Amino acid sequence: MKTIAILTGGGDCPGLNAVIRGVVRSAVGTRNWRVIGIEDGFDGLLTGLKTRELDLKAVRGILQLGGTLLGTSNHGNPLHYPVMENGEVHWMDVSEQVVENFNKTGADALIAVGGDGTLKIAQRLYELGMNVVGIPKTIDNDLKATDVTFGYNTAVGVVTEALDRLHTTAESHHRVMVVEVMGRDAGWIALESGIAGGADVILLPEIPYSIERICDAIRRRRERGGRFSIVVVAEGAHPLDGDRVLQETAGKNRGGVDRLGGIGQHVAEQISQCQDMEVRTVVLGHLQRGGTPSPFDRILGSRFGVKAVDLIAAGDYGKMVALRGRSVVSTTLQEAVGSLNLVPPHGELVEAAEKLGIMLGR
Ligand code: F6P
Repeated sequence: MKTIAILTGGGDCPGLNAVIRGVVRSAVGTRNWRVIGIEDGFDGLLTGLKTRELDLKAVRGILQLGGTLLGTSNHGNPLHYPVMENGEVHWMDVSEQVVENFNKTGADALIAVGGDGTLKIAQRLYELGMNVVGIPKTIDNDLKATDVTFGYNTAVGVVTEALDRLHTTAESHHRVMVVEVMGRDAGWIALESGIAGGADVILLPEIPYSIERICDAIRRRRERGGRFSIVVVAEGAHPLDGDRVLQETAGKNRGGVDRLGGIGQHVAEQISQCQDMEVRTVVLGHLQRGGTPSPFDRILGSRFGVKAVDLIAAGDYGKMVALRGRSVVSTTLQEAVGSLNLVPPHGELVEAAEKLGIMLGR
């Protein structure tokens, strides 16, 4: 009988509970193993050992719930951890301490569910000799080694519904609605929900925009009788000659990661100066991460959980589960964290959007 541990790290996303349930049902229910949950991501292995027993009863009724039963954290990165020495903050790699604490749990292997940051930590722990398997999670869908991450499908659904609702009010008031959505480095959410929601302009981190061209596009649409416009902006979008807009720079509370936000308002101010329709901004923010996962994400999360347990049963560590085509497969953590899955600026999806008459800022 094995004991395995699972943690969820980084920003939460819909489908995490489906993964936890999939792991427990497969490990406890099918294989008669024991599962321990580590609370609040890697914090649960750093700031005191925070664990809980995950038996079949603990995962009952959670499939349809958003968030994560175990809690998570997107600060406290063990590879870049603030340690106070002589009244000064020093950023240190404390992963050996994580291994030490993990060994105290008595677990044979760890399943780390997370995005790029969490999987990089998982890779480091594997290099230090820990038995680790990764599961890719992020609404941004920016992980290279899988066709899609769970959570993304739900987020696209939430944004599409918001765009449908904003369409009716934009049309009634003859306004330009600028909608800021998540997507730090990759604009998948903006692009796919923008296409699904009939956006007129979509701005992505991968395609620096020209505000003059956006204004031209809105004015031309107006001349053709379009008395409103919907502009979808990914939080990581930026102009040709400028940087991303930050709410907060990386600091000790941010685990070395900048907090983005504000580009929607910035673009809205510029659009209101170049044409005469009223402009409003909506920031969808964490609405995109919360709430009920879509059936697709529940199924993918469940399959990923089962596959991670299969990898542990085979002693196949240092791997991440992934979706390729219609199959759940495994790949190395090394490959998974090598580079990001960005929107190809001249790919089929972008070109289809342009042929549909959507303006992409260029
Ligand atoms: O990585 C997912 C993500 O949704 C990013 O798009 C966004 O920048 C980030 O999380 C925001 O995280 P938080 O506000 O929870 O720190």
